[in-house]
Amino acid sequence: MAAEVRASLSQRPLPSLPCKYFYDERGSALFDEITRLPEYYQTRTEETILEKIAGEVIDAVRPRELCELGSGTGRKIRLFLDAMASRGLLSRCVLLDISEEVLASSAERLAADYPGLSVRAVAGDFLEDLPALGPGGSRLALFLAGTVGNIHPDEVPAFLGSVARQLEPGDGFLVGLDLVKDPARLHAAYNDAAGVTAEFNRNVLRVVNDRLGADFDPEAFEHVAFYDAEAAWIEMRLRALRPLRVKVPAAGLDLAFRAGDEIRTEISCKYTRASFEALCAGTGLVLEGWYTDPDSLFASALLRRRTGGAEGPGRP
Ligand code: AVJ
Repeated sequence: MAAEVRASLSQRPLPSLPCKYFYDERGSALFDEITRLPEYYQTRTEETILEKIAGEVIDAVRPRELCELGSGTGRKIRLFLDAMASRGLLSRCVLLDISEEVLASSAERLAADYPGLSVRAVAGDFLEDLPALGPGGSRLALFLAGTVGNIHPDEVPAFLGSVARQLEPGDGFLVGLDLVKDPARLHAAYNDAAGVTAEFNRNVLRVVNDRLGADFDPEAFEHVAFYDAEAAWIEMRLRALRPLRVKVPAAGLDLAFRAGDEIRTEISCKYTRASFEALCAGTGLVLEGWYTDPDSLFASALLRRRTGGAEGPGRP
């Protein structure tokens, strides 16, 4: 983390912080609060889609193992576990998440609620730690909530290739995607009236303080979120409200901010079917199903590992 934060905060002209560091216990709780905000349509929209399609997806893939990347505190996985149970397919489940605390409690609750289900928890980062999932085969991997939007589009093909290598031919990968839409709607979803997203954004500074001994004053930064139509992403930043010096001892940094200086904290890419399908080319994964809500706010894309190699970007 020290090396990563050192590199990202040293970027010029725009320093950044990796968005995975939002999610300590407090950050995960703030994100949970975001999912219930009136402006934040993603979570409830995805849930309505998944309620409709879970059975169909399980029938198509017939998995024995369900695997969730970036599982968080989610309830959505239960829709799939229920569908597997009712078909007599319930057997294994693997959760991969960056937050160890959140991971342990979700794993415990799933094991308690689904007798006979073997639950494995892997603490890690979906960009680096997928090999820890072990070999696939009869696997359905879930990557929900639009979290793929946090990956820069240039890096999505390599990510999909690395997922493909954890799957066997016929295995499935269900990806949640926030869709391109009216920018005003997107703007509202990341600038909620209650200020929860602002607090979530500033939380990354608290995490850097806690873990690296930094002395960021979170209140000295204001939340900024805007839609970049050309890139088709929401960008979140933190903007210094006054000049300040910040030390990050574990990363060997002594930073000077002027009023107005910004740190990029997140990108959240918005897709169309065409823009996402284009990123699948050559990754070993093929788009097989595309499910959306009536207002086309959000989509669930079902990818299948094709037979033959996962040749293409990112292959060692
Ligand atoms: C969890 C990555 C899907 O990008 O909308 C919510 C995170 N950031 N509000 C998103 C987030 C600001 C969220 N994802």
